[in-house]
Amino acid sequence: MHKITIAIDGFSSTGKSTVARQLAKHLGYIYVDSGAMYRAVTLYAMNQQFIDDNQFDVNALVTNLHHVTIHFEFNRETGNADVYLNGKNVEKQIRTLEVSNCVSRVAAVPEVRYQLVKQQQQMGKEKGVVMDGRDIGTVVFPHAELKIFMTASAETRAQRRYDELINRGDKVNFNEVLHNIQERDYIDSHRADSPLVKAEDAIEIDNSNLTLDQQFQKVLNLVTMTLENLE
Ligand code: CDP
Ligand code: CDP
Repeated sequence: MHKITIAIDGFSSTGKSTVARQLAKHLGYIYVDSGAMYRAVTLYAMNQQFIDDNQFDVNALVTNLHHVTIHFEFNRETGNADVYLNGKNVEKQIRTLEVSNCVSRVAAVPEVRYQLVKQQQQMGKEKGVVMDGRDIGTVVFPHAELKIFMTASAETRAQRRYDELINRGDKVNFNEVLHNIQERDYIDSHRADSPLVKAEDAIEIDNSNLTLDQQFQKVLNLVTMTLENLE
């Protein structure tokens, strides 16, 4: 059977990584969470004090980018791939609201994007990959056989992310989570380099009222159709 490339883009907390992970398991494909890579670079910049809520020394980050290495390793306990920053597992640290509050500014820096996109293209060069992010169907894999663009209302997404953070034990309030999601939507969609836009040939799915199972079945049908068309 053909192996294809599946690009899943969309706004924050639309369920991209959940569906991408389910698909990869089902198809025996590699799953790559490209957002985790931007989050890991952001954590590096925060640890070096290049960025916080009030300042961002872009030059310092860019001149030190060659010190940043990112890779994924399979975690037997969770069955997922964890992200590593300079050899250290940072899977948990990159999911905090503090990192979310800085990541879109870091992801707008062209040098950061150039380095990560190169690595992402390398990871997907054999096909058989599901990658989720913001620019996968437009920039990373413009020739992907299947492109999906996920949306849902901002309130629905904020509620999902809030529940997730509270379940992890993080102390956050709903309004700051909603604010972060709206701010990232804006920065990600308006940056000059690789803004978040729906690729012309992407199929849009609004999952505001879909359960995880319904959304998975919908996407799986699209995969089946795509594979049949290639036979
Ligand atoms: O999971 P969530 O939707 O909150 O975000 P994510 O996928 O972890 O991505 C975090 C941030 O990384 C996004 O808000 C974007 O600023 C950036 N990102 C990007 O610019 N390009 C990608 N391909 C993936 C993420
Ligand atoms: O990767 P992205 O930020 O787009 O979203 P996610 O991390 O896959 O999903 C964010 C949260 O929303 C997770 O806790 C999902 O279980 C939940 N979700 C949901 O309850 N129903 C959906 N249809 C999609 C996501």
